[in-house]
Amino acid sequence: MSPSRRQFLSATSLVAAATVPYFQGPSRLLGAEPTSKNDRVAIGLIGAGGMGVGNLRAASKWIDVMAIADADARHASAANQKLSGGKAAEYADYREILDRKDIDVLHIATPDHWHTKPLIEAMRAGKDVYCEKPLTLTIDEGKLIRKVQQETGRIVQVGTQQRSQFKLFVKAIAMVAEGRLGKIKKVTAAIGGAPSCDAIPAVEPPKELDWDRWLGPAPVADYRSSGRQSNCHGTFRWWYEYSGGKLTDWGAHHVDISVWALEQAGQAAEQGGPLRLGGTATHPVAFRDGMPVERDRYNTATAFELTATYPGDVELVIRHDTDNGVTIEGEKGRIFVNRGKLVGAPVEALADDPLPEDAIAKVYKNLPMVGDGRGAHWATFLHCVKTRQEPISDVHSHMRALNICHLAGISARLGREVAWDAKAEQITGDEQANAMLARPYRKGYEIEMG
Ligand SMILES: NC(=O)c1ccc[n+]([C@@H]2O[C@H](COP(=O)([O-])OP(=O)(O)OC[C@H]3O[C@@H](n4cnc5c(N)ncnc54)[C@H](O)[C@@H]3O)[C@@H](O)[C@H]2O)c1
Repeated sequence: MSPSRRQFLSATSLVAAATVPYFQGPSRLLGAEPTSKNDRVAIGLIGAGGMGVGNLRAASKWIDVMAIADADARHASAANQKLSGGKAAEYADYREILDRKDIDVLHIATPDHWHTKPLIEAMRAGKDVYCEKPLTLTIDEGKLIRKVQQETGRIVQVGTQQRSQFKLFVKAIAMVAEGRLGKIKKVTAAIGGAPSCDAIPAVEPPKELDWDRWLGPAPVADYRSSGRQSNCHGTFRWWYEYSGGKLTDWGAHHVDISVWALEQAGQAAEQGGPLRLGGTATHPVAFRDGMPVERDRYNTATAFELTATYPGDVELVIRHDTDNGVTIEGEKGRIFVNRGKLVGAPVEALADDPLPEDAIAKVYKNLPMVGDGRGAHWATFLHCVKTRQEPISDVHSHMRALNICHLAGISARLGREVAWDAKAEQITGDEQANAMLARPYRKGYEIEMG
């Protein structure tokens, strides 16, 4: 057996620890250290910016970072020092990591426009992947990811770590599943707006940054930077060319929780998405045919109220409110949950009538609950790599939620309501909107849609 295969199969201390239920003492599990080098999982990192480094630090007790690929050599070498004391191999081209036979598990934390292509190639190369949200720039990319995941059987966990916040989001979902709110009437995902700015000048990219590689599948564009504003590191999320703006950046989190709640309530069964989606949105620049006319400043929606309507007039509202969080309103009461609190009368009622002991474990698919939040999300992923179970943030549930974020983006950019055939995953009665289920790729960066 190859060393990598042995490492891969023998992440046993993690798994042994992970099978101890959450209720019996997460702090003891978090303290558990792998007993030997072979207990650790060899990882390759693609995209070594803020999130890539933060995520692998959160998982550091279980992994060895063996290889790092980044389009900016400064990020690769800084991450190398932080994550592996400079011992990892550094690459400009992520495909060199895909070729390595001693690395079976990858973390992809590139900007949003660079998720789908490496994820698909990684699955086809036999790798399991923890990939950051939002998985795709379009609805059609999600169809391809699901297809390739099913064909290859690879384990893919999406970086929607709210699904591993047991005392907040998972508890809220368990309350819905246990009927504590009754029939759900409305869910509101408040995700905040996006910034606007004046024109950002085109300048020479830093010499360590391969700007053409960073652009990848996106259209050719000038590199723009002034102070903290740019069309590159971190701020790519305010450009439709590379992201969906707040609608997919935070929508990937709170719309995911909203759809999870509706599904657990039995009101948005797997093939039963919304019937239509529409509302209002404000953009900082003019749009033509769904894309921004001005290309020199942030262009994603700054303010919006967009509503997905399900059968039975159940509503999922996506708003730019600053009171970031998810409000779930049912016939028996309302709760509000975010990363800091879970409140509402049904929560207070738990003091006299607690949830059944297994309620949280049940909605968490009986996967191990090791700690809470991002570390727990990584622990679950590494457990699933070993056991081949479906992780909690699987590509299928993620796309059911992300499709709604993308529909919201299409409706916002066109300024009109869209009708949705959830089963066929098509927009009906609007050819222009339906054409926006996909985007063109720059020559040389195509993704084979199969
Ligand atoms: N789960 C969460 O809560 C959360 C929080 C923040 C960010 N994210 C997600 O993480 C991703 C990264 O965000 P970030 O804030 O770290 O961005 P970032 O700009 O700081 O980092 C992205 C990195 O990817 C690199 N990159 C670009 N093209 C590449 C290529 N072809 N090959 C290899 N590397 C390439 C960039 O040079 C950069 O170092 C985004 O998709 C974002 O949505 C998730």
